[in-house]
Parts: sequence; structure tokens; C-alpha cells
Amino acid sequence: MNLYMLCVGVASALTTLILMEEAWSSDLTVGRSKVETLCQTCHGMDGIATTTTVPNIAGQQMDYLVIQLEAYRSGKREHPQMTIVSQNLTDEDIENVSHWYASIKFSVEMPE
Ligand code: HEC
Repeated sequence: MNLYMLCVGVASALTTLILMEEAWSSDLTVGRSKVETLCQTCHGMDGIATTTTVPNIAGQQMDYLVIQLEAYRSGKREHPQMTIVSQNLTDEDIENVSHWYASIKFSVEMPE
């Protein structure tokens, strides 16, 4: 491999990285606005539940969130509120809102 080939290779790898970065941030933007309209009443923008009967999902695993939302949508997992909420979500919506909640950073503290 000559130097020219190496430069082209590095440049295209960098372009790919930059494009991936943009895709990630646009997902978050779309995710944020979906969460604002569809989820925040119960789960909060920060993923901390607004009432004691709703689970906290801040910083939850992306895969887990997607699997649960798909399960509510298909009827495999049932709940009066989440079954209704999930019905209108597209695959893209599920990924975007999951990205939002999975991206929230949290820290934990063990009890004494
Ligand atoms: C009306 C209140 C309400 C709204 C709105 C709502 N949720 Fe929920 N959500 C709940 C409740 C209550 C549960 C617990 C359901 C159960 O026991 O299965 C839950 C469960 C979940 C779970 C499973 C959590 C776990 O630990 O297994 C996920 C993921 C979730 N919601 C995501 C969302 C997302 C994303 C939205 C917006 C698209 C949303 N919810 C909108 C009330 C709500």
C-alpha cells in the first residue's frame, strides 16, 4: 500500500466517523422531542419517574429499552398505559426515544 492509498483510507474512515456522529446527535434531537410529547408526563425528561408507580428509566440500557417497547407494542408485555402509548410508535421512534433515555448519565450510591 503506498502513501496515497493510506491517506485515502484514513480520510474515508474519518468521514465515516463524522457521519456516524451526526446520525447519533440527530437521533437524540428527534428523541428529545418525542419524549417531550409522549413520555415526560410519567417518566420525566430526565428518566426519573414523576410518580411512585412508574419505573425510572434514566440511563437504562439501550437494548433493554428497545426490547421492552417492542414487547408492549406487540402485546407480548401488557400494561394499561404502556400498551396504549406504544401502539403509535414506529421502529424509528422506539430507537430515538430509547437513545434519549439511554444517553442520560447517572451515578449510584450504595446504602451504608
Ligand atoms: C401515562 C404514563 C406513561 C407514559 C405517558 C409513558 N409511560 Fe412508560 N411506563 C409507565 C408505567 C406505569 C410503566 C410500568 C409498566 C409495567 O408495569 O409494565 C412504564 C414502563 C415503561 C418501560 C419499561 C421499564 C422497565 O423497567 O421494564 C419503558 C421502557 C417505558 N415505560 C418507556 C416509555 C417511553 C419511551 C414512553 C414514551 C414514548 C413512555 N414510557 C410513556 C407509564 C408511562
